[in-house]
Amino acid sequence: MSTVAGETGSGCGAAEWTAAESVVISRAVRNAPSVHNTRPWSLALRGQTAELRERPTVLAQHDPDNRDRRLSCGAALANLVLAIRGLGRTTEVALGTSAGLVTATVTATGHAEPSVAERRRSEAVLDRRSCRQAFDGTGLPESTCGALLDAATAPGITGRWISGAEETLGVARLLTYAARVFQGNADYQRELAAWTTTTGEGLRRDGFGERGLAAVGLATERTRLPDEYALATRMRREAVLVVAARPDGPVDQVRAGAAVEQAWLEATSRGLAASVITQPLHLTEVRSGLTAGLGLAGAPQVLMRFGVPLGR
Ligand SMILES: Cc1cc2nc3c(=O)[nH]c(=O)nc-3n(C[C@H](O)[C@H](O)[C@H](O)COP(=O)(O)O)c2cc1C
Repeated sequence: MSTVAGETGSGCGAAEWTAAESVVISRAVRNAPSVHNTRPWSLALRGQTAELRERPTVLAQHDPDNRDRRLSCGAALANLVLAIRGLGRTTEVALGTSAGLVTATVTATGHAEPSVAERRRSEAVLDRRSCRQAFDGTGLPESTCGALLDAATAPGITGRWISGAEETLGVARLLTYAARVFQGNADYQRELAAWTTTTGEGLRRDGFGERGLAAVGLATERTRLPDEYALATRMRREAVLVVAARPDGPVDQVRAGAAVEQAWLEATSRGLAASVITQPLHLTEVRSGLTAGLGLAGAPQVLMRFGVPLGR
């Protein structure tokens, strides 16, 4: 395995994870968001290391480049590191690829209390979920937007809020275009239906968005698509963040997924609701349209929507 990144901590002996620690770590990883809820990773705990490996699950229609699979592994990696930090251990992370699949090895190297943000985010791991319903339209305070943007920022990973009427309309135009393309693609719709469930694993049908941005972020045959003006109006009632990566290789996509999850947990810890959207970004013309239209510093990976849940 080639090691391409790391964070360091102090050294300590190589005792085994206790049974209680293993439960905390495994549960945190299992609760990470993933494309179609596929959990495309495996986790092995040995000695004082935890090894996360990308599993070659295939979503030929939805995720032809396996981009979402690696973003999902990144989200699982964020939860893994936060779980270990929540246990009061320092971590060293080595990211690499083996036979075309990404591997992340996290080693517990010493002892140190988690920071306030790490504590809050690790405690939010089990509460985080996709909320594709409408938000209450209240704007987020500037300080909250700043904290979410900070959480989504990492080396090579940048966040950018979508703001202003013109910019929002430009993005809405790209998203309605993408939703129409996916809605008209019978092979795509067959695959999506196969992953949609009423119980158990996969995408929960009762969690689908009915209107607005969340609905066009997972367009099914039944989605009633708004026109671009109606969508732009709805988008202006939400805080919408684009997360981009440069460069745009497999390891960078894992890092982007980790940054997305950090921002999602930051939002959860503040009582906010969120959901993520990648479906439209699987079209090259949408990715390049967003990059040009927003002047992004890297390749767009994920759209995140945040807001105050209705009825709070
Ligand atoms: C990389 C990635 C891509 C995703 N893409 C979409 C998407 O395009 N539209 C959507 O509504 N949800 C999307 N999701 C959310 C997943 O469907 C969701 O995380 C999964 O079903 C588990 O549900 P939970 O988040 O409530 O735990 C994505 C999640 C990840 C990690």
